Amino acid sequence: MGIFKKKQAAESVDFTALPEHIAIILDGNGRWAKRRGMPRTAGHAVGSENFRKIATYCNDIGIKYLTVYAFSTENWKRPDDEVSTIMSLLEKYIIEAIDEVRKKNLRLCFWGSRAGLSEHIKKLMDESEKESRDMTGMQVNVCLNYGSRNEIKEAVSKIARDVSADKIKPEEISEDMIDSYLYSAGTPAPDLLIRPGGEKRLSNFLLWQLAYSEMVFTDKLWPEFDERELDRAIIEFQKRNRRYGGI
Ligand code: IPE
Ligand code: IPE
Ligand code: MG
Repeated sequence: MGIFKKKQAAESVDFTALPEHIAIILDGNGRWAKRRGMPRTAGHAVGSENFRKIATYCNDIGIKYLTVYAFSTENWKRPDDEVSTIMSLLEKYIIEAIDEVRKKNLRLCFWGSRAGLSEHIKKLMDESEKESRDMTGMQVNVCLNYGSRNEIKEAVSKIARDVSADKIKPEEISEDMIDSYLYSAGTPAPDLLIRPGGEKRLSNFLLWQLAYSEMVFTDKLWPEFDERELDRAIIEFQKRNRRYGGI
């Protein structure tokens, strides 16, 4: 071979074999801002804008379900001003999303506990869920005040109540039935989980639902995670061999 090597064609996404459901842990906002000498809250504002951009891209390429971890049951431990900034950004997002869902035929759902949220945000969540209930486009699940252990605990309580009310018998409890008691009822499990921000852990996200999801971790921080990064994650997903315990 001469010195002129053939330029390797850039890998590209196979749009005929997309993951149906992508879940993303939106992590790294604080570090992104700190590195730029800005307060952590500035990182949340940029991260929130980035979520709009990536959600639009997912919808454009034909992803059916997008689930994002926006605020965990553990994130209340943060300083009050950071929590209130995140809550205001979420309110702003929901207000704008109400218009967006109509235009783009999106379905918006919120997964998580309503306990501890302000009346205002709860009202916005209810309104936008109601408004978009019959939309047939991409379903966006925003995990807000979400913790997987809490979700499972709530499901177990409800099942126990239904058993004591004779609505179900203990021997009828199946995996599908447990599924139907979770916030994610009716939604297929994520095919691909992406965690930007460099951490390689689940941080109490979808412990039940991610049992057989493919995971992609990247050091990119969420505010700098762009469409090309999403493409990279999908390309990586498309190389995986999903065996589900078979051969
Ligand atoms: C955003 O990233 C995720 C939220 C909890 C809102 P972080 O705020 O966790 O950013 P880092 O991980 O501290 O950089
Ligand atoms: C996970 O990120 C929660 C969300 C992105 C909403 P964290 O920043 O809270 O996770 P840890 O603390 O690094 O595990
Ligand atoms: Mg973090």
